Amino acid sequence: MHEVMKIEGGHLLEGEVTISGAKNATVALIPAAVLANGPVTIVGIPQIADVKALADILRILKVEVIEVADDHLIIDPTNMENVDLDDDIVTKLRASYYFMGALLGKYGYVRMKMPGGCYLGPRPIDLHLKGFEALGAKVTYDKACYTIQAKKLKGAKIFLDIASVGATINIMMASVYAEGRTTIENAAKEPEIIDIATLLNRMGARIRGAGTNVITIDGVRNLSGCFHEIIPDRIEAGTFIIIAAAMAKRMVINNIIPQHLDALLSKLKDMGVNMEVGVDKVVIERNENLRSVDVTTRPYPGFATDLQQPLTALLTQAHGEGKVTETIYIERFKHCIELCKMGADIDLIPAGAIIKGPTSLYGTKVSATDLRCGAAMIVAGLIAEGVTEIDNVYHIDRGYSEIDRKLSALGAKIWRENVD
Ligand code: EPU
Repeated sequence: MHEVMKIEGGHLLEGEVTISGAKNATVALIPAAVLANGPVTIVGIPQIADVKALADILRILKVEVIEVADDHLIIDPTNMENVDLDDDIVTKLRASYYFMGALLGKYGYVRMKMPGGCYLGPRPIDLHLKGFEALGAKVTYDKACYTIQAKKLKGAKIFLDIASVGATINIMMASVYAEGRTTIENAAKEPEIIDIATLLNRMGARIRGAGTNVITIDGVRNLSGCFHEIIPDRIEAGTFIIIAAAMAKRMVINNIIPQHLDALLSKLKDMGVNMEVGVDKVVIERNENLRSVDVTTRPYPGFATDLQQPLTALLTQAHGEGKVTETIYIERFKHCIELCKMGADIDLIPAGAIIKGPTSLYGTKVSATDLRCGAAMIVAGLIAEGVTEIDNVYHIDRGYSEIDRKLSALGAKIWRENVD
């Protein structure tokens, strides 16, 4: 028996939804908390499987994790021990790699298994490792584990060949205690990076320039506990915005930072979506006569690769031919195969897809091959005639907080079943 998600499509949605804290910030904030020498309180924690996995890793490290409320964690590393992370749990999610930077930064030593996560084509971590080496660490690999150690970490100038989100955050964490100044050039500029720098600075770190492509970190001797509230999840917000564009009579999406969604909102405007953007919310009404657009994914502030998949589902409903081009993960197109099973007309080309619309979609059995493919299946399932059955739901649960509850409250017919 295994669990599937079922959606009876074709029902218009109406009402309000509140966006949760950002997954891709949370999964770095939790490991970052161990750099403190006192309790760190984080609010706005999304209810996702990745958080549970990270909390389990914290417990392996003898860090005290107190769940004060559903979205409110206290992480107390006062009595932590730097034990080897060779447990399989590390391979469940990609973000476990943030323990590399955090533990190296705090203890000058970390041994852990290779991180896992969604398969989006090859996802090397060479830039993370090069950054650690530049700070004076030695990296070795044996028995499926990395060992990263340094007698002393010293600030360095590090140029990233690619503006990698993970490498930027990991190097920030590894260098907060390093002697002298670390400079990360061609740093990634994603809002989640600013959120991690904010947490570290609240602990007492001296990080400047987060959100620009040059970040400087001046090493400090001590970091203490603090309070932090996570930024809203721009990808969850974008997913609901796309759902609303397809199916909302009227939907109010609360707790967003519109600036983080500029690239998506401007594409949707070009498609003819009716929307009213407020300070921290957006109101959307569907338009039955959407126009196709071309989209190219880029690092922030460009169009997010994580929204490319749900947008593809919406493009099946637009008039004309739309082209999606991936520049971040060139193999991130498995959702197109699933959408075609539902009736979409999509041609795959190298690093891209051409979507012809509008086409009717019909409920059938599909798979959430990765997290955002799952989001695309939800968008398509809500549009489709009949019942869509989505397999591998655990991918969706890794990143979307209470998605069933949120959609049901908007009038969607969505439920889970155990099937053979
Ligand atoms: N890259 C390398 N070497 C490295 C690191 C990255 O070649 O050492 C390449 C990657 O293969 C990719 C590009 O650089 O082609 C950018 O990757 P990046 O490191 O920025 O991605 P990431 O940190 O692994 C985060 C998000 C992803 C999101 C990407 C891009 C987390 C936990 N994950 O991944 O989110 O797609 O940034 O914005 O923050 C998701 O939420 O579904 C998801 C996959």
